[in-house]
Amino acid sequence: MNIVLVGFMGTGKTTMGKRLAKRLGYYFIDMDSQIEIEQKSKISEIFTEHGEPYFRKLETQLLHHLLSVKNTIISTGGGVVGNSENMIVMKQIGKVIYLDTPIEEILERLKRTKNRPLLNAENPDEKAVLLLEQRAPLYKQADKIIETQGLNPHQITSQIISCL
Ligand code: S3P
Repeated sequence: MNIVLVGFMGTGKTTMGKRLAKRLGYYFIDMDSQIEIEQKSKISEIFTEHGEPYFRKLETQLLHHLLSVKNTIISTGGGVVGNSENMIVMKQIGKVIYLDTPIEEILERLKRTKNRPLLNAENPDEKAVLLLEQRAPLYKQADKIIETQGLNPHQITSQIISCL
């Protein structure tokens, strides 16, 4: 059995993925890190050197490779839902879980990071709000939605485990 975590940047997919893997004794794969290892390049460099469409191709390719994994927690990049084919593949890989975090909390967390190329905009908050608005209906196609507000990481992982 596999679990695929989806959600916007800053919703804790990687942190929760690692914790879940530890609690369940599963493997853990972070798609962004995997792409960085395979390309020997940082995500931000891939975006500047090759553009977003190239990164999206790598993302979809990697998802197809992940069809063969077992007992693995996969944390995806926030934009993976932009390609409708990806949701179909993710559901074939495993149970898709959406970490639904309020925008205010996301904006607060994103202030502390600099490695999100899509938010290198004049007004990063505005861009994030717009992107989340566009993506929310896509994330909601997940098998299960976990509302993370008011929950600590342990409670979030428990909720995920209880719905497996
Ligand atoms: C992206 C989110 C990032 C990374 C890339 C694009 C997005 O992953 O894949 O910067 O389009 O939302 P995180 O969600 O882990 O930040």
